[in-house]
Amino acid sequence: MMLPSANELLVVDRAVYTNAFNTKPFGFEHYLHRLPMFQPDALAALAGKYGAEPGDYYISQSAPTPGTRFFDVKSKPSKPDEALAMLATSPTRMLLKRPEKYDSAYRDLLNTLFERVVELRGGLNGEKVVRLESALFISSASATTPFHFDPEINHFFQIEGGKQYHVYPPSAIRVEELEDFYVEGKIEIGQVDLRTRDKSLEHVFNLMPGRGFHQPQDAPHWVQTGGERSVSYAFVYETNASRARGRILAANHYLRKIGVHPQDPGANAGSDSAKASVMKVVVPVRRRIVRNLNRIR
Ligand SMILES: [Fe+2]
Repeated sequence: MMLPSANELLVVDRAVYTNAFNTKPFGFEHYLHRLPMFQPDALAALAGKYGAEPGDYYISQSAPTPGTRFFDVKSKPSKPDEALAMLATSPTRMLLKRPEKYDSAYRDLLNTLFERVVELRGGLNGEKVVRLESALFISSASATTPFHFDPEINHFFQIEGGKQYHVYPPSAIRVEELEDFYVEGKIEIGQVDLRTRDKSLEHVFNLMPGRGFHQPQDAPHWVQTGGERSVSYAFVYETNASRARGRILAANHYLRKIGVHPQDPGANAGSDSAKASVMKVVVPVRRRIVRNLNRIR
């Protein structure tokens, strides 16, 4: 299938993009909901391809409240095609990871969108992409995804139904919270408390088909679907610089422990790169130590 031009796929104010990229969430318009690969029959066919790959999907219940801890919500043993069939009767959130592995239309879309956003940010300026992947979120009506943050740069597209997306800029996370997360070498789901956030920083996007927004790395969020089934698409990426940011925060965790008041990432390029290279070694070792301790316990 021929995609429309990259400019038609994602329509955004260039000045807004340049100014707010990876620091503040901002909205845009898109064309994805009109593409054949996102129509209900195509989605059902895609879900059918996931059955044998449990590492590529995650199915869970709706959270009772936005402040519920992420992994306190039970996962469901169903397969994607079963979950899809029961969406109307059993409150469910389904994540289909990396559809580009299963259908080349998703691969073409991902490449086209990625080129578009790299052009919008003014090129990668020497940064190397270390991960680029997309995902589909298919949820029941009135389903809640609880508050958390993700260590990756996100562009989010509403395809079907409505979604109310509550998102804060990364500055809403305290630096010690980020350090605690990155020091564990985790790659997904930063758990933070909703009650202690500064509510005045919250952006609410009332997403409907054709609307989307950019979510910076570490921007915490919670999400509520509307009165009908919701389908969303997102793609995320990490660069060597976005990963280094995590390692710098991890280094600062240790510096703080020994009584030093470290500089936040970005304040000093020289000490940033020293911290990042030290932690390239320390974080994996720490992760291995924690794993072994857990085995002994
Ligand atoms: Fe998330």
